[in-house]
Amino acid sequence: MIHKDFISKPYTGQLEETEFGWQSPSNIALVKYWGKKEIQIPANPSISFTLDNCHTKTKVQVGPKVKSEKEFSFEVLLDGKPKEAFAPKIETFFKRVQPYLPFVDQYHFKIQTTNSFPHSSGIASSASGMSALALCFMSMEKTLLPDMNQEYFFKKASFLARLGSGSASRSTQGPLMVFGEHQDIPESSNLYGVKYQGEVHDNFNNYQDTVLLVDVGEKKVSSSVGHDLVNGHPFASARFEQANKNLSELLQIIKQGDLEAFVKVVESEALVLHAIMMSSQPYYLLLRPNTLRIIEKVWEYRANTNSNLCFTLDAGANVHLLYPEAEKQEVLQFIRNELVVYCKNEQYICDQIGFGAKKL
Ligand code: DP6
Repeated sequence: MIHKDFISKPYTGQLEETEFGWQSPSNIALVKYWGKKEIQIPANPSISFTLDNCHTKTKVQVGPKVKSEKEFSFEVLLDGKPKEAFAPKIETFFKRVQPYLPFVDQYHFKIQTTNSFPHSSGIASSASGMSALALCFMSMEKTLLPDMNQEYFFKKASFLARLGSGSASRSTQGPLMVFGEHQDIPESSNLYGVKYQGEVHDNFNNYQDTVLLVDVGEKKVSSSVGHDLVNGHPFASARFEQANKNLSELLQIIKQGDLEAFVKVVESEALVLHAIMMSSQPYYLLLRPNTLRIIEKVWEYRANTNSNLCFTLDAGANVHLLYPEAEKQEVLQFIRNELVVYCKNEQYICDQIGFGAKKL
C-alpha cells in the first residue's frame, strides 16, 4: 500500500460515541531501527517482540470544538493531571495525521493517558503512547466509515503511529512485528509495521523480558537527534546492509528455535546500535558503568551455565534481559542475587512477549 491508500474515503457515518480507548504495549527491537528519512521512513528494516506488562492506556473524549484561532483543539492529561510538556509532540502528530484523518481539526479532543511503568523509568513511552493514540483515532474513523475491515484498520493505525514515532508502528500488534521493507517478508513496508506471519518455534512462546532500570533520568540525546546523526555517518551503509542480513538470519533462527544463534544476533545488534552512537559526529554515550557491569555478569552467567539468557538495549542505559520461559526461575534468582545491585533503587520490571493492543 502507498501513501494515498491511507487518505480517507468520504465519511458515511457520524462520530456518535464520545469516548474511545486503547491499551497499547511497548516493544523491544531485536534488529534495531536506527537511521531514518523524514518522516520516520526507516533506513533499514527492524523486528521486535511486542511486550505485555509495559503499556500505555489512552482514552480520548471527543467534544465540540470551541471557535478559536487554533487549528487543533486538544488537552493532554497524564495520570489525571494536565501535561503541557506532551503538547508540542501531540500538536506535531495532529499536523502529520491531518491529511489522512480530515476530522482532527473539527473537534476538541481530551486525551487522558497513563503508563503501567513509572514515567521516570527511562522506558520510552512514545512507542506505546503514539500507538494507543493512533488506535483511538482509528476507532473514531471506524465510526465514520463503518465498512472498514480489520486489516485496513490495523495497517492505518500503524501508519499513523509511525508518523508519531517510528518504533510506535511496531506496537499495534504482536507477538513479532516488522517495520521497514525486507526482501524475505513480501508484506513488509516502510510506511507501517506488519505482524510477522512466518513460522515461529515453540522455544519463543512466552519469551521473557526483564527490564533492569539502570538510569531513570531523561535521555541526554533524544532518539530523533540520534537518528539524524546516522545520516552521513561513515559506517551508515555497512550498518544498513548488516541490519538487512541480521534480519534474514534472525527469521531462520526464529523458525528453527536456535537459541544460541539468537543470542549472538540480538546482543550484536544491541552493541552495534551503541557503537554507532559512540562513533557519530558529535559522538555520545548512553551506556552507564552499571550497564557494562550487567553485560559482563550476563556473559559470565552464560559461561557458567547452559543458559540462553541474553541482553538487548534501547537508546538508553537500561538493560532488557531476554530468556526462554523455561529458565524463568533460575534467571530471576540470578537477577535478585547478582544484578539488582546495579539497578537504580533495585528496580526492575518483569515482562514477556505480548499479542498487541487491546480496545478498552
Ligand atoms: C533504539 O522510534 O524512538 O529504540 O522514530 O524518531 O520516534 P523516532 O525514534 P524511535 O527510535 C527507536 C530506536 C530504538 C531501536 C528500535 O526500537 O528499533
